[in-house]
Amino acid sequence: MPDAVTFSRYGGSEVLELTQVEARAPGRGEVQVSVVAAGINPGEIAIREGATRERYPARFEKGEGPEGQGSDFAGVVLEVGPEVDFPKVGDEVIGFSDGRNAQAELVTIKADRVIPKPHSVSWNEAGSLYVAGTTARACIAAVGLRRGETVVIAGGAGGVGVVVTQLAVLAGAIVVATASEENHAFLREVGAIPVAYGPKLAERIRKIVPDGVDAFIDTHGHGNVEVALELGVAKDRINTITDFAARQKHRVLAEGMSTVEPREALIELARLMGNGQLRIPVYATYPLGEVRAAYERLARGHGLGKIVLEVTSWD
Ligand SMILES: NC(=O)c1ccc[n+]([C@@H]2O[C@H](COP(=O)([O-])OP(=O)(O)OC[C@H]3O[C@@H](n4cnc5c(N)ncnc54)[C@H](OP(=O)(O)O)[C@@H]3O)[C@@H](O)[C@H]2O)c1
Repeated sequence: MPDAVTFSRYGGSEVLELTQVEARAPGRGEVQVSVVAAGINPGEIAIREGATRERYPARFEKGEGPEGQGSDFAGVVLEVGPEVDFPKVGDEVIGFSDGRNAQAELVTIKADRVIPKPHSVSWNEAGSLYVAGTTARACIAAVGLRRGETVVIAGGAGGVGVVVTQLAVLAGAIVVATASEENHAFLREVGAIPVAYGPKLAERIRKIVPDGVDAFIDTHGHGNVEVALELGVAKDRINTITDFAARQKHRVLAEGMSTVEPREALIELARLMGNGQLRIPVYATYPLGEVRAAYERLARGHGLGKIVLEVTSWD
């Protein structure tokens, strides 16, 4: 029986387990994927701790057995159910699950929840695209970024941050991205102007872009919306994906991944990755069995890009 990450009560990383689960054969319109890589995201910590239980109750609350985990994955199609035109057995795919089941050796999922993986894109990058990529697209759309404008990305080195920074550069904007010193080289390499976060941020940004800031994308929270307001950015051009209190207080935007049609967005992002125009740095990898350590590392809150669970090896 294949292994899957599960938890049977809310709590810290210690509640995560590797459990042998029944492999479900693909039904009509479904495929079964052998997962090679599965990215992890901070939102999964909130779900596992029970912080979002009102909105997303775990299966065990309803007596339906352990909860699974994960949305991002990439892998190889093992089996195809009836009435599936794409993909075929053996295809390399990027998957996007909303069924909390991506962190597993086998995922059975609707065929329209996978897209082709460009061969040149690494498994780890492909396996960490969904949440970060669609959220980044949502941020760019929310602020209506146009060529020649100046945008600040708060948290430019995070999973969402690295993607949104590159999309903003590709959109022809002047991009100022906040990050710790050790991540500045990457941000510079992709065409952004890095700036350290911390005290007097607005003042320091003003010195870099004295003509002003048109839009502000906050992927970190903790006062960044206030920095945007201090810079004089219009409220309808400030988007936060994490500071919902600031959103309420200041009436700025808070558009995240749910505002994006994922399939179309992922096909476009995968195309950019395949062309070498977009990359997702991966700063740590763990085998599936070390999922607890992976989330403990993620919770430390620093690092460039993504953490990925390497599930199965594939050439
Ligand atoms: N609403 C949605 O649809 C949605 C979707 C995805 C994520 N989110 C939320 O968005 C947030 C970011 O997600 P993520 O996946 O990008 O997280 P992540 O990868 O864990 O973010 C870590 C990054 O935060 C940076 N950081 C730490 N302290 C900072 C500070 N004071 N100022 C600026 N950056 C700082 C770190 O940069 P350094 O290493 O340089 O310190 C690191 O690169 C999370 O709260 C997540 O839950 C929301």
